Amino acid sequence: MPVTLAKTAERLDKVLAKLLDISRKQAGVLIKEGRIAVNEIPAHKAQDKVAPDDLIYLDDELIEAAGLSQCRRVLLFNKPAGCICADRDKRYPLVLNYLIDVPHREKLHCAGRLDLDTCGLIIITDDGALIHEITAPKKQIAKIYFVTTDVPLPPHAAAALARGVKHPAESERYRPALLYPLGERAALVQVTEGRYHEVKRLLETQGCIVTHLERLAIGALLLPTELTRGHFVQLTQDEISLLFAQPPALETVAAQFAVYLQTAIAKTSLS
Ligand code: URA
Repeated sequence: MPVTLAKTAERLDKVLAKLLDISRKQAGVLIKEGRIAVNEIPAHKAQDKVAPDDLIYLDDELIEAAGLSQCRRVLLFNKPAGCICADRDKRYPLVLNYLIDVPHREKLHCAGRLDLDTCGLIIITDDGALIHEITAPKKQIAKIYFVTTDVPLPPHAAAALARGVKHPAESERYRPALLYPLGERAALVQVTEGRYHEVKRLLETQGCIVTHLERLAIGALLLPTELTRGHFVQLTQDEISLLFAQPPALETVAAQFAVYLQTAIAKTSLS
């Protein structure tokens, strides 16, 4: 996936001043002293232009990609199980711990929460309005999950979820959700509410405990299967727009992820 940010090139001294919170004059001195490199090539002129995806170094230390200081940051992260989507926690490692090399990572937050044991696609950004757009139940952004269960899914599960089920421990019915079976104990589930433990609770109403839960899509933005767990990519504007587009039909998602899902099902020995 491309990582280029949609911004024009700017003067090196101006970008440095912003990145390091110094004056342009001080930035010029650093350049003159030969302490700055761009894409590992020593920089000599303050007026040299740097593009948003150029990498800027001070004394051989990466400061950051030039564009990151100018744009909001929107990252697609492949969350491993065992970390949590909070800004701080005493018990568990944070998703943000995986972004150790990302500058100003304290400004980044997860758009919504995946449970400790849930893995897959999560958006991390410093744009609060975008977080709201993705997570507010009113916005009804579709989220697609791959689930496996402890016992076979009952034959009527898809019809029940499509009508909207009620969990015995909750007062409000769930909005209609989609379920596409992939095997006896595996399925894709699409929800639009984002309620606490939503997928687990939906499956509980069908007498099943979720044994593996992985988010594959938000809107039409799919998890890139080549992105290994614990890694992220920076999204382009076009990719961000996909978050708000209609997702493909679950049948299409199942076909697109066929090899990936078969491997995952085989791993949990759930043919
Ligand atoms: N539904 C759940 O039950 N858990 C998640 O992490 C996400 C959706």
